[in-house]
Amino acid sequence: MHLFRPQRLRRAGEYLVYLVLFRSYGLPISRSPSYSLRTNPSRESQSLSRRLHIGGQTRAPGWEVLDANPGPCVDHVGNAGDLSRFAENSFEQIYASHVLEHFAYLRRIVPALMEWKRVLSPGGSLYVSVPDLDVLAGLFVDRDLLSVEERFLVMRMMFGAQSDEHDYHLAGLNEEFLTSYFVAAGFQDISRVDNFGIFDDTSNMQLKGIPISLNMIAVKTA
Ligand SMILES: C[S@@+](CC[C@H](N)C(=O)[O-])C[C@H]1O[C@@H](n2cnc3c(N)ncnc32)[C@H](O)[C@@H]1O
Repeated sequence: MHLFRPQRLRRAGEYLVYLVLFRSYGLPISRSPSYSLRTNPSRESQSLSRRLHIGGQTRAPGWEVLDANPGPCVDHVGNAGDLSRFAENSFEQIYASHVLEHFAYLRRIVPALMEWKRVLSPGGSLYVSVPDLDVLAGLFVDRDLLSVEERFLVMRMMFGAQSDEHDYHLAGLNEEFLTSYFVAAGFQDISRVDNFGIFDDTSNMQLKGIPISLNMIAVKTA
């Protein structure tokens, strides 16, 4: 029977692996990637109207801060996974540093990114910084470089400081995983940068001179 031809069997096997990874583990690996990944592009700042800073710790002109916890610089208290208070296409820029890893990789990250895309205007940019699991994993096992106290700090960067109910990390991200999630949420023109040059926050954090954050930009093209 031609059902058992090697080529068909291989394609069926690939599809099975894809289903298991996507459905069971929440990793939206694209079978035929259609995104372009660029490194360190120079980006002109655009003329902006509203800008949303998710999880922001400082007040900055032109930026509205949304956070799960109230605070002196917080304009909107709420869960970043539900931005229903905002109409679609409300913001020309959205910035979230060390927030996305607080969403469960299984069934929460992609819906959150889709929600951020909904309120982003066409052509708008999303700036996301997360702990870079590739870097943290390398640092954690490097006993020659780091003391036990420093390796404990690395562990906290992986799992969250756990200072309140929102301060837990539910996903470990690196460039490949985050790119996959951006693609699954419908973002395009995805790029990695050394720093955003927007806020002085954890996106710039270094340990022993090594940057521990993964900083990426994704664009809503339509
Ligand atoms: C680790 S701090 C990062 C602070 C700052 N952005 C930085 O990079 O230094 C995470 C921030 O995100 C907020 N946060 C975590 N989960 C959130 C959620 N689901 N919705 C809104 N804010 C959230 C926390 O309250 C906190 O202010």
